[in-house]
Amino acid sequence: ATQLLQTTILNEQFLNIDYSKYESSVKAIHHHLEETKDELTGWVNAPLEENQDLIDSIQSIANEIKENGDVLVVIGVGGSYLGAKAIQDALTPYFGNHPDGIEVIYAGQNMSGAYIHQLLNCLTNKQFYINVISKSGSTMEPALAFRVLRQYMEERYGEDASERIIVTTDSETGLLREMAVTQHYRQFVIPSNIGGRYSVLTPVGLLPIAVAGVDIAQLLDGAKEAATLLKEESLDSNEAYRYAVIRHALYSLGYKVELLASFEPALANFHDWWKQLFGESEGKDQKGLFPATVNYSTDLHAIGQFIQEGSPILFETLLHFHEITDDHHVPNDHRNEDKLNYLSNHSFNHINATSKQGTALAHAEGGVPVIQLELDKLDAYHLGYLIYFFMKACAMSAYLLEVNPFDQPGVEAYKSKMLELLNVDKVKK
Ligand code: PA5
Repeated sequence: ATQLLQTTILNEQFLNIDYSKYESSVKAIHHHLEETKDELTGWVNAPLEENQDLIDSIQSIANEIKENGDVLVVIGVGGSYLGAKAIQDALTPYFGNHPDGIEVIYAGQNMSGAYIHQLLNCLTNKQFYINVISKSGSTMEPALAFRVLRQYMEERYGEDASERIIVTTDSETGLLREMAVTQHYRQFVIPSNIGGRYSVLTPVGLLPIAVAGVDIAQLLDGAKEAATLLKEESLDSNEAYRYAVIRHALYSLGYKVELLASFEPALANFHDWWKQLFGESEGKDQKGLFPATVNYSTDLHAIGQFIQEGSPILFETLLHFHEITDDHHVPNDHRNEDKLNYLSNHSFNHINATSKQGTALAHAEGGVPVIQLELDKLDAYHLGYLIYFFMKACAMSAYLLEVNPFDQPGVEAYKSKMLELLNVDKVKK
C-alpha cells in the first residue's frame, strides 16, 4: 500500500544502524496495541469504527454555534485542548476567521488573573458559547475558568445560559458530568478507553475544530486511512514504527533531545500538540527523549546557531508538506536596490522549501541527525493522517522504552504541593 507519509533519515552514517534487531519487539508491541482491551488503546481502532450519528450531532451543534455565536470559548487543558488548537491554527487563515467558521478562543490552560480578566472584557460585545472539556471533570485550571465564565454567561443570558454551554467529559464519573446532568447542559462523551492526549479525533477535538470551519469529515478520513495503512506489523511497511525505531536508536546513541521543526508558522500549535503527546507519554522512569520544537525561519535566527554547532545532544525531525494552499510570487523591481531580482517571479513557497532543503543539508553536515517526514498537502485529510501516525509512533516509542504511554503519574506532584500550599484541608472544613 502507498503510504501518505515518507520517513527518511538524511545522514548516511545512520542508514547503517541495524534496525532489524527491533523487528521482534516491534511485532510484540504491535500485537499488544492492536489486541489489548485493558488499556487506554481505544484510539487505535476508533477511526475505523465510523459513528455517523455522532459526527452529525457534532456538526449540527457546531452549525448552531456558528449561527448564533460570534465566539466559542473552549475551556480545557493538556490533551483536552491542544489538538483542537493545533488543527484550528494549521487550517484557518493567518489573519481573520475561516470563511466557514467563527472565532474559537481558549481558556483554562493557565491561572493568570490578567488572562481571565481580559477574556471577559473581550466577550463584552460578543455573542458566545462555551465548550468545557475535561475527562476527569475536576482539573483545577479549567474548573476555575469555567466557574468564572459560567457566572458571566448566566449574567448575560439568564435562563438561556444553559443552552449555550456544551460539556465534553466522561460518560459516568466526575464533577463536570454531575453539573451537566443537574443543569441540563448538552454533553459529548470522551470514551473511557481514550486518554486526553490521544483524544483529538473524538468530540474533544472535533467540536471546536468544526466550529472553527475545518472539514472534520476530511480529518477523520485521513485518520481512517492511517489506521488502515499503519496496521502493518513489519518495519519495512509501517512508517510510524520506522520513525519510532529511528528515534529510539538515536536516543540509545546519546541524542536525548528531539527537535520537531517546520517551515510553516501555522504549524506552531501542531508542534505543541506533538510535544505534549510525546513528553507525557515517554518522559517517566528517568527515561525519554525531551521533545522540543522550532519554527523556521524564525528560529534559524534564534536557536539555529546552537543546532548547527552547540552541544551534540539533539536530533531534528523536519516536518514538510509539499503543497500549501496559498502562495505569492516575488515581484520584479526595476530599481533592484535590494539586489533581489534574481528571485523575481519565484514563489515564496518554493523559496521556503529550498530553505528547508538547505537547512536540512547544513544540519546533517554539521553532525545533527535529521529525520524528514514528508506529506503531500497541508489540509485536513493529511493532518488527520499525521495525527494518527504520531499517536501510533508515540505508543510504539514508549513501549520500546518500556514505559506506559498512557499514564502521567508525574503530573500529580505539582498538584499536591499546590493544594498543600492553598491549604485545601482547612478550606474544605
Ligand atoms: O493527556 C492527558 O491525559 C492530560 O494532558 C490531560 O488531558 C490533562 O491533564 C487534562 O485532564 P482533564 O481532561 O481530565 O481535565
